[in-house]
Amino acid sequence: MEEGPRNERLRLRFVTRAEAPILRSRYAHEPGGFNDFGQAATEAPAAAEHAIQASRGQLPSGELRDEHSGVLWVEVLGGGGPIGTVEYHRVMYGPNAESAGWMIGIDLRPEGRGQGYGAEAQRLLADWLFQTTSANRVEAQTDIDNLAEARALETAGFTREGVLRGAQFRAGAYHDLVVYSRLRDESEKIERS
Ligand SMILES: CC(C)(COP(=O)(O)OP(=O)(O)OC[C@H]1O[C@@H](n2cnc3c(N)ncnc32)[C@H](O)[C@@H]1OP(=O)(O)O)[C@@H](O)C(=O)NCCC(=O)NCCS
Repeated sequence: MEEGPRNERLRLRFVTRAEAPILRSRYAHEPGGFNDFGQAATEAPAAAEHAIQASRGQLPSGELRDEHSGVLWVEVLGGGGPIGTVEYHRVMYGPNAESAGWMIGIDLRPEGRGQGYGAEAQRLLADWLFQTTSANRVEAQTDIDNLAEARALETAGFTREGVLRGAQFRAGAYHDLVVYSRLRDESEKIERS
């Protein structure tokens, strides 16, 4: 099993199929939060649940990942267990392989928030996706009112592109989403600077 990406404070580690029940119980979505889509309390955050379902039966590595998606623990180095998850899945902007990008998502538990880990984890994930795949684009979307995630993405090197009006139905209403992205050459510039 290959080592996940890490920095001085954090490491990302693929969730294993055996850990899916932990993901569902301890890391269940937060009622009323930005990742609450009305799913059952026993389900993982929506994106992670999707990865669990999508990867069912096709996991030679035993990890929750395939060529389309993956979900990783965010762990603080030095112990204490995971503080949340990050997730990625493929998005297509044309029929050819070159037009494939990655959409990422994050869900930190309350005790993992407010310490800058959100930006670091998303930077680590985007860097890793550029290093291990040929994608030109990594993107993220967040509720227009999720100012902590917007700021975390900017700190992670993402650029705000625009607003998807009324795109997401959650908590009984449609919500505007803000789109952010990082491109491969921007990632290289960041690494050189
Ligand atoms: C959103 C999330 C990833 C942010 O990560 P985080 O590490 O907790 O972020 P922080 O609290 O350190 O805040 C990041 C920045 O936003 C700022 N910020 C936080 N809340 C803010 C608010 N309500 N208004 C304005 N700025 C805010 C912080 O001051 C910080 O700014 P700085 O980098 O200039 O110091 C994390 O809180 C989380 O997982 N939340 C729950 C799930 C979620 O919302 N996921 C994203 C769904 S798209």
